[in-house]
Amino acid sequence: MVAPIVITILAYLHVTSAISWMGASLFFLVVLGPGLRGLSPPASLEFMAKVGGKAVRYFMGSATATIVFGLVLLYVVIDGDFSSLGTAGFGTTISIGFTIGFIAYLDAALLTGRKFTKANKLAIELMKNPPQGPPTELIQLMKEGGQGALIGTVLLFIAAVFMVTAGFPF
Ligand code: HEM
Repeated sequence: MVAPIVITILAYLHVTSAISWMGASLFFLVVLGPGLRGLSPPASLEFMAKVGGKAVRYFMGSATATIVFGLVLLYVVIDGDFSSLGTAGFGTTISIGFTIGFIAYLDAALLTGRKFTKANKLAIELMKNPPQGPPTELIQLMKEGGQGALIGTVLLFIAAVFMVTAGFPF
């Protein structure tokens, strides 16, 4: 049995990372994405070139921390007894929650993160060699990244509902 203080610290780390990930996703969808669409092409190109890479690193860092601390927390909460995940109540609720959380992580790593990383590299290139017409490839990458961000945010909310229900069953 792990000391309660260790469980508390892990819970803080897990919940803080989850808030950082989910909060930034929502901020991106509601404020940053629509705001970017209102900028002039050179301004959004510069933003994507200078901020895009940092944003992807932030998202992947907070997402990875959520999953890693979540898994360690799970291990100590169930005391290493994985058979308890199959039982009704806490077991099934937390299992559904972390499965959806994993899918949100895959969405962040394989879809959203990848598209915005490509958009960031392309924007850096286009800053050096400005395009003649509208940067259609960049616009397409941003659109696909935005769709990934929307899917990820919805999944995060559903995962959070299951996580909180596991802690506070009604
Ligand atoms: C692999 C993925 C994840 C694992 C293994 C995991 C595991 C856990 C565990 C074991 C708890 C403690 C539950 C309890 O003892 O009551 C917890 C709580 C929590 N998790 Fe996760 N989690 C994961 C993903 C996520 C994600 C993606 C979010 C954000 C959307 C999230 C948000 C939370 C929140 C807010 C709590 C606190 C719930 C409460 O105290 O009522 N978790 N998680």
